[in-house]
Amino acid sequence: MLGPGNGPVQIPEDAIRRRVAELGAAIAQDYQGRTPHLICVLNGAFIFMADLVRAIPLPLTLDFIAISSYGNAFKSSGEVELLKDLRLPIHGRDVIVVEDIVDTGLTLAYLLDYLEARKPASVRVAALLSKPQRRQVEVPIHYLGFEIEDAYVYGYGLDRAQFDRNLPFITSIRPEEE
Ligand code: PRP
Repeated sequence: MLGPGNGPVQIPEDAIRRRVAELGAAIAQDYQGRTPHLICVLNGAFIFMADLVRAIPLPLTLDFIAISSYGNAFKSSGEVELLKDLRLPIHGRDVIVVEDIVDTGLTLAYLLDYLEARKPASVRVAALLSKPQRRQVEVPIHYLGFEIEDAYVYGYGLDRAQFDRNLPFITSIRPEEE
């Protein structure tokens, strides 16, 4: 483990817990009488997904998808590759995409196109973190945990060189350390 960083974004465990509970309650209210289908975007969203589904007191189903962002050069060109497809059909379903972070928005834009082509009844997005300063394409986020500044964040599912996903809080490094 690299341990906590001393950068500008620090979100303690209890603040995450409270915010995830609020997002779950909002989703439960909006989807009353329906059965949402949550799609977790691997790998970063796995912890957020696990906590969020337990904060939604409704019958729901879920699935996982994995997308490669290729690193920044390819990412900024908008190229993404599907690494692991969905297992369940989404036709006619009320889909909620669960992301850990929306940065440029390119991954989410690709994913929304991909999902819309399969004719779900509706698609909404739940994202734990958003960096609006970095956005290259506009994407909707219906349920947002925290808007953050442009720092390298990790913990609570997000990695720092693949490590530290198991930190129970979100932390960041100073820009000069990147
Ligand atoms: C992160 C994150 C989003 C994407 C956001 O995934 O989980 O899927 O990048 O970036 P964008 O808005 O600029 O497209 P990453 O590629 O780091 O993979 P991981 O979730 O497996 O860590």
